[in-house]
Amino acid sequence: MSKHRVSRRQFLNYTLTGVGGFMAAGMLMPMVRFAVDPVLKASASGDFIPTPQKISEITEEPTRVDFSFEQKDAWYTSEVTNTAWVYKDENGEIVALSPVCKHLGCVVDWNTDKANQNRFYCPCHGGLYEKDGTNVPGTPPIAKLDVYPTQEKDGFLLLGKAKPREEA
Ligand code: FES
Repeated sequence: MSKHRVSRRQFLNYTLTGVGGFMAAGMLMPMVRFAVDPVLKASASGDFIPTPQKISEITEEPTRVDFSFEQKDAWYTSEVTNTAWVYKDENGEIVALSPVCKHLGCVVDWNTDKANQNRFYCPCHGGLYEKDGTNVPGTPPIAKLDVYPTQEKDGFLLLGKAKPREEA
């Protein structure tokens, strides 16, 4: 017989602690899971969003394309509308630029500044970009416009998440 005999009281303590801990874990795990579930879900940011823009109607002139999608922010879902400036370059490749100015985030327009034809113009502080989204030196923006990855489906343009040019 071992010298370390477990008394009846100790046995009861061990058993109740074990069973109590198991039950507490069983109750807490679903609660924790529920609380962090939206955070654990994979982001849909890699998804491509359909736009109303027909591929066949894209020309070499930048055109404003508005598109909407549902955005989930943890538990909150909202309808978001984004914009892209879309055109075909000299090789026939589709270019989709973000309209968000890389200075302080205003929205750029195409060809609206009479003194700077065929450039993107930011009315907030006079920022200028070339047609390919390159910022014009000497104006406030310090980087190129972000670019959307593009896809085609059933003749329509799909856009991914806009990225800074270096990562694009
Ligand atoms: S926000 Fe566009 S130039 Fe300042």
